Amino acid sequence: MKTTHLIHRELQLTADGSHTLFVPEMNEHYHSVNGACQESEHIFIRAGLQEVPKKEIQLLEIGFGTGLNALLTLKAIEEAACQRIVYHTIELYPLPPETIKALNYGDRIWPERKDLFFALHEAAWNKEVRISNWFVLHKIQGDCRLCTFPSNIDLIYFDAFAPEKQPEMWTQAMYEKLYQCAAEGAVLTTYCAKGEVRRGMQAAGFEMERLPGPPGKRHILRGRKRITSVPGLQSPATPCLP
Ligand SMILES: C[S@@+](CC[C@H](N)C(=O)[O-])C[C@H]1O[C@@H](n2cnc3c(N)ncnc32)[C@H](O)[C@@H]1O
Repeated sequence: MKTTHLIHRELQLTADGSHTLFVPEMNEHYHSVNGACQESEHIFIRAGLQEVPKKEIQLLEIGFGTGLNALLTLKAIEEAACQRIVYHTIELYPLPPETIKALNYGDRIWPERKDLFFALHEAAWNKEVRISNWFVLHKIQGDCRLCTFPSNIDLIYFDAFAPEKQPEMWTQAMYEKLYQCAAEGAVLTTYCAKGEVRRGMQAAGFEMERLPGPPGKRHILRGRKRITSVPGLQSPATPCLP
């Protein structure tokens, strides 16, 4: 892929009424055409965020893109009001303001707080920015193959373009880098359920499972980093709910 101002992206409506972006040059969408919002909720919120019962969560997303996953996570965290999150997200090709303005996520997902969708996009890059009492955003502008990942990550949203379109993101080196940055008990979710990806992530150390996918997709993948530390010697994750 080339530099951001040269990437042509088309705004498209998906089956649930939420937008996605299409990159003609790659023949690739940012989300499922069967429902962008529905897909993100299913894969990243229900199969990911809701599986991490910690009071303090360090999250790493590969590909900030439209900010859809970030907005859904922010909303879920605000509604639960019992977990703090630091949302680290890496993006090599940030979207231009006119594209961000055209996306309907603020209106559809959280109309009464659509200012927060823009706050996510307007937040400075490469520093931690407090979006609310519960949510700190850390957008990193760079190539995730080259930059150093934050450590002790509890939750990974692996949301790169598909392996057929961007194979350089789906390598053993990448899976190992993700495993290295993960804390014990960490959860990884991705929409891609290819056997090759599952075996690669497993070889990196994750315990992998195949879960039912959102509409239009048979399966998704979830990985976990096994807890090996002896109970009592290290402080366990503090559950959020009584
Ligand atoms: C499938 S889209 C992600 C969608 C995003 N999570 C969202 O909610 O809109 C993949 C994203 O990865 C970004 N990307 C591609 N190559 C990258 C790289 N080497 N490092 C970081 N981000 C990259 C793309 O620009 C795109 O935003």
